[in-house]
Amino acid sequence: MTLHLNERIDQFESPFRRLDALIADLQPAPGLTPILMHVGEPQDEPPALLAQTVAANAHDWNRYPPSLGTPAFLAAVAGYLDRRYPGARGRVRPDRELSSVASTREALFLAASVAIGQARPQPVALMPNPFYQTYRAAAIMAGATPVYLPQSGFPRFEIDLDAIDEATLARTGILYLCSPSNPEGQVLAPERMRQAVALARRHGFLVVFDECYAELHDGHPPVGALEVLAQADGSAGWLDNVLVLHSLSKRSSAAGMRSGFVAGDARVVAALNKVRLNGTACTPAPLQAAAAALWSDDAHVVQMRERLAARFDLADRHFAGYAGYRRPPCGFFVWLRVPDGAALTRRLWAERALKVLPGEYLTQPAPDGRNSGREFIRLALVQPLPVADEGLARVASLL
Ligand SMILES: Cc1ncc(COP(=O)(O)O)c(C=O)c1O
Repeated sequence: MTLHLNERIDQFESPFRRLDALIADLQPAPGLTPILMHVGEPQDEPPALLAQTVAANAHDWNRYPPSLGTPAFLAAVAGYLDRRYPGARGRVRPDRELSSVASTREALFLAASVAIGQARPQPVALMPNPFYQTYRAAAIMAGATPVYLPQSGFPRFEIDLDAIDEATLARTGILYLCSPSNPEGQVLAPERMRQAVALARRHGFLVVFDECYAELHDGHPPVGALEVLAQADGSAGWLDNVLVLHSLSKRSSAAGMRSGFVAGDARVVAALNKVRLNGTACTPAPLQAAAAALWSDDAHVVQMRERLAARFDLADRHFAGYAGYRRPPCGFFVWLRVPDGAALTRRLWAERALKVLPGEYLTQPAPDGRNSGREFIRLALVQPLPVADEGLARVASLL
């Protein structure tokens, strides 16, 4: 008998595997040290606080991870939320509306399975376009059809929720929104957040706000869904149908920790935790102790933002006068408009030993077949300054 595996997995895609295939026949330009700007992985050292706190809590490695979050972790996150979103101060109840997760990817992936059951025939999952791959994979794994939301083009990238028809809304099980967004660094307007939540409540679906880039900003902290919703609604149901996700991966240059949190509708948090308790690994106690220390400390985040601003200053210089460049308010990506992203990606590798990501690997074609990502490349500004400088110079030299 043939082994039958879940055919849904065959639909998963990886932008990075596609990139490997795109440049497989090329050698990086000889004589140049290859520079990697295709992955959004912070290259900075995480704060010393991380390793120190893990070492101080080494006695807890024998414990199974406290899945829902240690009291210290939950208290540190509540403290962070109060400082970061004063308009929502004290509103999130740590005992039922907050949970530790093993980074946002875990929660993003499980959220679709939590939200989509048998109540809705032919379910769909709404997501932006471009989108983070996990939204799509989660939707497919949960048996939903991904539907990509139309977006205005360069340089504003606004999502048009009015364009979703009623028939689609009736089939929707989950809506993913990313703010600040990857790759555009765009912040959702408060009215868009409120509109999304109103739609979710009217049609009985879940909205997931992926805010893992919330701390990567230009000195003007972007609005967050928690604050927007708290200010709009003083009732106990202010978090209904909502899940908000945060992570230490980018904020604290600690992608290896796999630590984040969700805040949201107590019913959703409880269901998510049922799934997690049965099926996932969860963040170990010593790492939760370190996470508590990191969420309690803002000084290292200020330093991270200074390094980020210096890299964007370099991008401003290298792309000065180039019409396809816009400095984003948030995030660590340059979403650069070019005539043909895939062709430029190949040239950058072959002629400049620089790896970037073609925009079309982060987007899906619209129903008319047009792929809005084709005219973009994504550059991750995650390197030390001299490396970022050299990488940006290599791009500018081919524009
Ligand atoms: C938009 C977006 N969401 C989520 C993630 C996952 O981050 P984490 O490390 O918190 O799982 C990423 C990582 O690149 C991302 O770009």
